[in-house]
Amino acid sequence: MKRPFVIAVASEKGGVGKTTIATNLAVYLKALQEDLPVTIASFDNHFSVDQMFALGPQPGGSVANLLEGRPIEELATLGQYGVQYVASSQRLQPPSHDPGWLRQRMSASTLDGILILDTRPILDWFTEAALLTADLVLVPVKDRAALINAGSLKKIMADAGRAEKLWLLPSLVDARARLNAEVRVHEFLIYGARERDYQVLDICISKSPKVEGLASGFSSRIWPVLTHARNTSVHGQFKKLAEFVLSSSAAETFEYRNRSGGEGVLEGLPAAWRRKLILECPLCCQQSLHTDGHFFFDLSSRRRGFIHTGCCDQLFAELELDVMSPEEILALTIEGPGLVGPESRLTAHLFDADENLVASEELGEGKGRLHKTLPMMIGRPIDASYRELVIINRQAISPAEQMGDDLYRRFACRRRKIARELRLAGLF
Ligand SMILES: Nc1ncnc2c1ncn2[C@@H]1O[C@H](COP(=O)(O)OP(=O)(O)OP(=O)(O)O)[C@@H](O)[C@H]1O
Ligand SMILES: [Mg+2]
Repeated sequence: MKRPFVIAVASEKGGVGKTTIATNLAVYLKALQEDLPVTIASFDNHFSVDQMFALGPQPGGSVANLLEGRPIEELATLGQYGVQYVASSQRLQPPSHDPGWLRQRMSASTLDGILILDTRPILDWFTEAALLTADLVLVPVKDRAALINAGSLKKIMADAGRAEKLWLLPSLVDARARLNAEVRVHEFLIYGARERDYQVLDICISKSPKVEGLASGFSSRIWPVLTHARNTSVHGQFKKLAEFVLSSSAAETFEYRNRSGGEGVLEGLPAAWRRKLILECPLCCQQSLHTDGHFFFDLSSRRRGFIHTGCCDQLFAELELDVMSPEEILALTIEGPGLVGPESRLTAHLFDADENLVASEELGEGKGRLHKTLPMMIGRPIDASYRELVIINRQAISPAEQMGDDLYRRFACRRRKIARELRLAGLF
């Protein structure tokens, strides 16, 4: 069953960067994972979403139509940067049903991928509906007042039993502003938030005059940071935020399916297996347990899953290594303080049927698919990883068979030999 992973960007405080975060997040998600459907809608009447994404004169429908009960998949229109958007509406009337109605609508929806909801700076019907629908709530905070205001959002989430979905995101941060010689203002804010039991992202969105300029002036368009402010620190920060969202959505999709009975193939699996199993192909984010696939395993997080055959062929096509037999195994190693660091390295190693190292190839950023796919396999951004070893089967096998005792034991044995070989060769 499909349903979108919903992100609400909310804060009762105005001008904290909600819309900037919501719209840019959509663009960065699409840039990191081009096959992932990303849709955005705003309950605000500022039309910023339309100014960034509108492409041509004919939107499918507006947020007002959504509230009338029309399915969101009929209303979303393909816009700039490959993002789908639902047109904003000048005057929205809160429906007579309670705000939990939106969650029911989204659960019944066939919209796939990620849906981002931008909200107004007040806690009205629309904001509450967005909060109750969301699988992840991002609350930008730029100062103490915004932190205090976050209390009412936290209460709504806690009352719904979903407090763990809410994350504060320090926004419009001036990293130079100090409280005193030792403490910077944003560090103090983060400290205060953690004291109040909030989850705070370790990503801050900096205040940047260049980013501010993207939404001002006389142009009727708003430009994304990705295309018009790439040389700012905000660019790297949005990339990290999108990576965080991708790994949260992969984990949540798994939890959800598991709670709702799971796929037949999951039944009877040990709990540790179920917890660490990724149900989607890390390349295309579509279900991958229903057909033969290439098993992958990340040694440090112990995440595992299956890559579709077609997707795996695309990965292998990027490599210069000559893959000859289905018995071969590909091992990817990441070394060092992160790929963005000068000393870090991503390398692909090919092992034959007897686990002998046949060839290695260092992978530069040009090998785009591998770089985009790895965070989904290892469950964290590449530049936050230190030493990783991901092992991928060249042979496509049915998930039920691969997860059975015999094949899994054989894979574990091959995996250990490969890790030992790499260690002996000083490559891991
Ligand atoms: N990282 C940033 N650096 C500099 N200026 C920013 C940044 N993010 C947002 N802004 C600017 O701050 C202002 C408020 O941003 P934005 O509209 O995203 O906030 P908002 O929370 O959606 O506001 P509202 O509550 O009115 O909807 C805008 O002028 C925007 O261009
Ligand atoms: Mg806004």
